[in-house]
Amino acid sequence: MGAIRRASGPAAIAEAATILRGGGLVAFPTETVYGLGADATRDRAVARVFEAKNRPEFNPLIVHVPDISAARLLVEWNEFAQTLAERFWPGPLSLVLPRLPECPVSILAGAGLSTLAVRAPRGAPARMLLDRTARPIAAPSANPAGAVSPTRAGHVLDALGDAVDLVLDDGPCTVGIESTVLDLGGEKPALLRPGGLPAEEIEAVIGRLAKPAEAEAPRSPGQLASHYAPDLPLRIDAGGAGPGEALLSFGPDTPAGAAVERNLSPAGDPVEAAANLFAALHELDRSGCAGIVAMPVPETGLGRAIMDRLRRAAAPRPLVDPPGRN
Ligand code: TXA
Ligand code: MG
Repeated sequence: MGAIRRASGPAAIAEAATILRGGGLVAFPTETVYGLGADATRDRAVARVFEAKNRPEFNPLIVHVPDISAARLLVEWNEFAQTLAERFWPGPLSLVLPRLPECPVSILAGAGLSTLAVRAPRGAPARMLLDRTARPIAAPSANPAGAVSPTRAGHVLDALGDAVDLVLDDGPCTVGIESTVLDLGGEKPALLRPGGLPAEEIEAVIGRLAKPAEAEAPRSPGQLASHYAPDLPLRIDAGGAGPGEALLSFGPDTPAGAAVERNLSPAGDPVEAAANLFAALHELDRSGCAGIVAMPVPETGLGRAIMDRLRRAAAPRPLVDPPGRN
């Protein structure tokens, strides 16, 4: 079982950086979810991440950097990237750009693609860790492939405790939902995954985003249907829970009669709901109920990312794990 340390102490950050530089795995908090970090330049360390998550190797990882100048050492920067990173970094926005020929990041981290997703996370522990490690850190969400993402250190220990060397604990994540992933390598910026930065805020800066064509093979494996799934079956229904079902509710008026209920935001605030989403799913999953019923959330702002995750959690599960669940 990996060790756990409060992330607030400089000694814990120093220990984590030493582990990363030595090729080990450190789970660390970001504003979105906890990440399972490895030195992105070391193939062996990156391979351990895929192994720990049981993640198909052609599903690329996000590479975390402290700032724009660090990102520019890895990928072909462009004007969209500059505008968006100046406005939204550090923050919940990952940018997919062509790799530079001299990019030192492990080919495995990018799953052999010619592009790389880069992001500067917010939150003191992640930033101190990047600073101390002085290497780009490859980090997917710290959950087994296809399962619910972790927003607490305890979620990581429960699911991956044996596979990580150290978990940095900084309490609950503030945003609670993964970063928005944008493809900036094409003619028009395209939204690959709705996430912690609402698309409206991006469109207010650079105009309308393209959606990857429906028929096209998923450009981002996070687009695969079944994903972010709890162990229990989940359905979306405004009408409330049936017998023996747990209710994931939202807003002040919630249907009575659920065996167990977690309200994402009694005030009906999508930002609060996003922060609570994954912890509530983890809890309901362990409630002993037969299934989970989720009330729909209005699809504006972060509501769009919440509904995206709920629909994927509700999608039919494959009998055999398909490629690309993360
Ligand atoms: O908020 C987050 O993004 C968290 C924290 C830890 O930073 N990380 C995270 O990583 O959610 P992960 O691996 O669970 O999801 C990364 C998503 C996947 O859907 C992956 O397919 C996509 O980003 N992605 C990564 N590199 C890509 C690339 N080169 N092209 C297209 N999609 C890419
Ligand atoms: Mg993930």
